[in-house]
Amino acid sequence: MPATSDTERLLIQTTSGCSRTERRFRVSLAPGPHTTNAMADLTERGFDRRRDLPELLALIGSARASSDAHAFLHPGGLQWLLRRLGHGAFAVRQWFDLDALAGVAVEDSGYVIIHAATAALDRHLWLLGQAEAHLRQSGQATIEVSVWESDRELLSSLQSLGYEPSGTYGHELVYEAGDVPRDPTLPEGFSMRWLEPNLDDAYIELHRAAWSTWAPSTYDRQMHAAVTTMPDFERELVPIIAAPDGALAAYCIGWFDPRTRTVEIEPLGTHPEFRRLGLARAIVHEVVKRSAQRAAKSVMVWGVSTNPEAVHLYESAGFHSRRILREYRRKL
Ligand SMILES: CC(C)(COP(=O)(O)OP(=O)(O)OC[C@H]1O[C@@H](n2cnc3c(N)ncnc32)[C@H](O)[C@@H]1OP(=O)(O)O)[C@@H](O)C(=O)NCCC(=O)NCCS
Repeated sequence: MPATSDTERLLIQTTSGCSRTERRFRVSLAPGPHTTNAMADLTERGFDRRRDLPELLALIGSARASSDAHAFLHPGGLQWLLRRLGHGAFAVRQWFDLDALAGVAVEDSGYVIIHAATAALDRHLWLLGQAEAHLRQSGQATIEVSVWESDRELLSSLQSLGYEPSGTYGHELVYEAGDVPRDPTLPEGFSMRWLEPNLDDAYIELHRAAWSTWAPSTYDRQMHAAVTTMPDFERELVPIIAAPDGALAAYCIGWFDPRTRTVEIEPLGTHPEFRRLGLARAIVHEVVKRSAQRAAKSVMVWGVSTNPEAVHLYESAGFHSRRILREYRRKL
């Protein structure tokens, strides 16, 4: 389990780092297992958050909007992950076709998210080949990726490359618009707030405490600053419940994606002292309500097989499983 959210157990495993130095070089044409000549002209360029993030978010958002069969990342989840830039072995690698972003590989130790600008399988596999080569070179023993259960085309290619199920999977849990929950009822004396700037330090402590039941959290001021300055971050979409004495008890971040008009919840947690009081369910209902005020079409969250309590929570709040994303692994 990673130091942060359960979604990240599914999407990414550990931290890693990103060189902000620009690296420009022609992609090698040495024929790897997934390389074709069609990809010969792609150029890799080092990722710079300020310069490259808008285009990256546009790529991820439009893939979701077009229902690209191989795409699963929501722009909100990506922005949450990007707090790790500059930490450990987390890296965003990107390739360009002339000036157009052609594809990315988000690498974190052995776990990789591949995203191409087109839904073409050969482009996806080529990017995967690049990630495999890079991880092998950096001494990783295995690589893991996530694939929709329904994506037969990609699954059959992965199987022929020697990928096998790791056993971990996640539900894409969805709350469709149209059924706005009533104002959540809170226990006596508790109140609903949002991430007002003067709550930042207490919020960081709340996040750390909520996730400490999984592992010590690495979330700190620096990561918080990275999160709160992401393009789609909105303080009002961070509902927070305060206890009668003002202590912060539960929270989530809702990420509204203007491209798809959908929201992702990531992360969400309740302080261990305030569990089983219905606070997380109240937070979920509040973020659904605030999403509806922005005319969001739906709210989604990952419910991973390793966190059945969270799946129960979301189901109890009215979410249903739309599809399943499974992890596959191979030796390098
Ligand atoms: C999962 C978590 C958010 C639940 O918070 P909570 O405030 O205790 O949850 P609620 O009291 O609102 O519970 C709502 C429903 O969730 C389910 N649920 C919550 N905790 C559960 C548990 N430990 N075991 C089984 N079901 C559980 C139940 O269906 C519950 O309804 P019920 O109490 O009427 O039976 C909390 O345990 C937590 O912060 N865990 C660490 C962080 C985490 O895993 N976050 C999930 C992010 S995807």
